[in-house]
Parts: sequence; C-alpha cells; structure tokens
Amino acid sequence: MSDQGAGVFVGGITFVRNSICRGNSPDELDILTSTTYLDISSCEIEGGWTSAGSNNFNADPDFMSPINLRLSLGSPCIDTASNGCCADEDLEREFIINFTQRGVFQIAEDSQDQKIIGFQVLEPFATYTHAFDHVAMIATFVDLDYRRRGIGMCLSEVTFEIARGKGYEKIFTFVRADNPAALQFYLDLGFRIVGTAQKQAKIGDKYIDEIVIEKFL
Ligand SMILES: CC(C)(COP(=O)(O)OP(=O)(O)OC[C@H]1O[C@@H](n2cnc3c(N)ncnc32)[C@H](O)[C@@H]1OP(=O)(O)O)[C@@H](O)C(=O)NCCC(=O)NCCS
Repeated sequence: MSDQGAGVFVGGITFVRNSICRGNSPDELDILTSTTYLDISSCEIEGGWTSAGSNNFNADPDFMSPINLRLSLGSPCIDTASNGCCADEDLEREFIINFTQRGVFQIAEDSQDQKIIGFQVLEPFATYTHAFDHVAMIATFVDLDYRRRGIGMCLSEVTFEIARGKGYEKIFTFVRADNPAALQFYLDLGFRIVGTAQKQAKIGDKYIDEIVIEKFL
C-alpha cells in the first residue's frame, strides 16, 4: 500500500486490522484526499490514530530486536488483536451493500485474470437538504501497476454519463495539494480549480491544504 513514504498510504477505501505500524517516515498513515476512507482498528500506530476505527493504541511493541520482529514476552501488543474485526471482505461488502442508491460505484477489471485494477465512487455531495441534490463528490483509484493507461479516464467517462442520468449537474470535490498527479488527472477531465482550502486535512500533527475543484456535467 505504501509507495509514497508512509506505512500506509491510500487513495481509496481501506480497512487495516491487527497490524503494527511503526518507524515509517514521514507518516505512519497517510491519505490522498478528504474523500479517501481509511479505517484503522486494533492496531498499534506510532503517534496514535484518532480518525475512523477503534481499539488502536500507541506503545512501543517491544520487538525482540530491530531485525527480529517477534514480540518480546512483555510486549503490550500481545492479546490486543481482535478476531472479530479482521474480516475485511465483510466490511467492504457491507460498505457496498449500504452504498447510496444515488451513487455510482464502478470498478475496472483486468479481463485476463479477473483482477480489480481500479474503481471510481461518485456520491451525493450532501443529503441533509435537497439543495445539493444536483451536486456529487467523486473519488478515483487505479492500481499503481496500471496507471497512465487511460483507465481513470475510461471510468470517468462512464461515471459522468450515469451521473447525468441520475440527475447530477456538477461534481465538486477536493484533491490534496501534495497530489499534483490527481489534480492534473481531474483538470484533464474538465474540472476547474475553485480555490484552496487551507489546512483542510490533518494527518497526525501535519496539516495539508486541499485544492477545491468542480466540473459541470
Ligand atoms: C489519479 C489516478 C486516478 C489517475 O488514474 P490513471 O488511470 O493513471 O489516469 P489516466 O491514465 O486515465 O490519465 C489521464 C490523464 O490524466 C493525467 N495524469 C494521470 N496521471 C498523471 C500523473 N501521474 N502525472 C501527470 N498527469 C497525470 C494525464 O494528463 C493523463 O493523460 P496522459 O497519460 O495521456 O498524459 C491515479 O493516478 C491514482 O489512482 N492515483 C492515486 C489515487 C488518487 O490520487 N486519486 C485521486 C484523488 S481521489
């Protein structure tokens, strides 16, 4: 999951369970946009984790040695994992089953080995009033090995078409200021920059700006 300098660095929907995340730089956990969903439970996270998830803690795991990562007898990590929370597939299934009727959830599959290589999620911007019914949010993720092959573009063309059919007139979303590739991707799709939301994301103690973008369908 980590190709950008963090223990866990995700751009989609990810559940991490029963893991130790420690000694990574610059961050243990990192996300791409405020629409990225990262859910951490029953994990030991250096520096702690206060976003989605539960039963996480921050304590030196007391490894046998720096190269022998077995836990010492007195390790605070012993007996802290949860069998009940490791069914990632169940959680993902639940997310999909509960996915809003007005949403668009598309996957890209490698037809040769049936591997899922990307997905795009479009959801209502807000549901507490009908005033935003014409506005959607979007998030896109393409497997690292399959990028720059037009998959994101392909997903978007179909998503936009379905979104129009569901009554959406515009897409309004955010891209992290330190993610120029994603910004360029969305600009290529016809999005325009509305402005910058300063310190919109906070990962640990680090604030990150988000570029606000929109596109009329
Ligand atoms: C952003 C992302 C979805 C693009 O997916 P992709 O399938 O690689 O994109 P495409 O191949 O369809 O690229 C379309 C165009 O977007 C632009 N683009 C895509 N990746 C780019 C990059 N790394 N640098 C600069 N431009 C890029 C290019 O103009 C590209 O056209 P080109 O390849 O002909 O030059 C993918 O890089 C990704 O999953 N990133 C991590 C998750 C993320 O940041 N998601 C967006 C926020 S939710």
